[in-house]
Parts: sequence; C-alpha cells; structure tokens
Amino acid sequence: MKNLIAPSILSANFAKLGKEVEDVISAGADIIHFDVMDNHYVPNLTIGPLVCKSLIDYGIKKPIDVHLMTTPVDDLINQFCDAGASMVSFHPEATKHVDRSIELIKSKGSKAGIALNPASPLSLLDHILDKIDFILIMSVNPGYGGQKFIPNSLDKIQKCKEMIDLAKREVEIEVDGGISAENIQSVKNAGANIFVAGSAIFNSKNYKNTIQKMKQEISAG
Ligand code: DX5
Ligand code: ZN
Repeated sequence: MKNLIAPSILSANFAKLGKEVEDVISAGADIIHFDVMDNHYVPNLTIGPLVCKSLIDYGIKKPIDVHLMTTPVDDLINQFCDAGASMVSFHPEATKHVDRSIELIKSKGSKAGIALNPASPLSLLDHILDKIDFILIMSVNPGYGGQKFIPNSLDKIQKCKEMIDLAKREVEIEVDGGISAENIQSVKNAGANIFVAGSAIFNSKNYKNTIQKMKQEISAG
C-alpha cells in the first residue's frame, strides 16, 4: 500500500488557509487531513463543511481526509461528502449505529474509516473490518494538536496490521497524533501507511524539508 503524508491543517494558519494548503501540497503532501471538532465529543471547536467546500472551490485537488471528532456523525457525513471529502472517518462510540454510518459514507462514494482512541480496543473492528477502507489509530487523545505521541500506540498498530493481514483485507492504517520525522519510521515499521502530522509540519520553518525528511525516514524503514 502506498505511503501517504497527510498534513493536519489544525496547525495551519487559518487566516490564510488556502495558501497554507497549497504550500504543503507543493511541499509534497499526499492528502489533506481535516480535523472536525464540535465542542461536545471533544472540547475544541474547529471547522465545518463550508471550509472543506471552500478549499475545493479554491482549487485544492488532493484528497481531503475528514476526521470527524463529533457526535452525532451522520448528518455531518452527508454534509462533508456533499462538500467533496474523499475520505471520512468517525469514532464508533460517537454514533448510535456504526454499520449504518459506514454504509452512509460508502453510499456517498467516499472512503470510510473508523477512528480509535488510545483506549479504544481493536475488538471494535471485529464485525466491520470487511466494510471499511481505513482505520485511523489515534496516538494521542483527540482534541488538540501538538500533543506527545503515546508510545504503546506502536504495539496497537502492529496488532491492527496483523488483524488486517489475517482477514486478508486491503485496509489502510492511518496514524494520527504526535508524529514527526523522529518517530515516523517506527510508525511505518509497525504497519501504518498514512501518516498524519500537524504541528511537526506547520510549525516547521520549511514544509518541504520537513516532508522530505519524513519521506526519507519512511523509505529507509
Ligand atoms: C487531534 C487531531 C490530530 C492533530 C494532529 O485530535 O486529530 O489530527 O491535529 O496534530 P499533531 O501532529 O500536532 O499531533
Ligand atoms: Zn485528526
């Protein structure tokens, strides 16, 4: 599976978001990670479908990967898919009917993902692994950028990869939280192929150097 760098725009400068997204794309970003927080499921409050549509209307062509940290989720799935999101993930405990929410994303033609918090067990995937396109493993607690990577996430990623291989499925593993050029290789070696990084990219002086360094670490792994 292709390794993809997904800058999280949570750490971008929202006053010039279009330009920030263009800049990370020319610096080598493969997809754009779009964190949606509702001041309910998580304490923080961020951006909605209008901003997603604005980015697409502005000319952003790379896939937009919407990470819903909201409850409930179904209405926002509809709104984000209509706004042009290519991938949508949600937290299973945030919806009443997980299978229905997955089917809703797929019916809109987007890739469906399940996001697991650090304390959420992999057994939540037991009856849905054949339906989802990707699993988003949170390596920090959701709500804020710039937190420290939780080390036992590596073991969870590895176990998740084993589970996918055993089931002979083509499910991608995305990891989100505290990823930098220093630890990205261990995240890749554990079995992930989509790497979300917010503060490590947007707080760096040179996006291109940072993304290049991440890609080098991945291919050296
Ligand atoms: C946290 C978000 C992450 C976050 C990643 O709730 O889901 O996407 O922005 O940011 P960093 O890379 O700074 O941990
Ligand atoms: Zn995220």
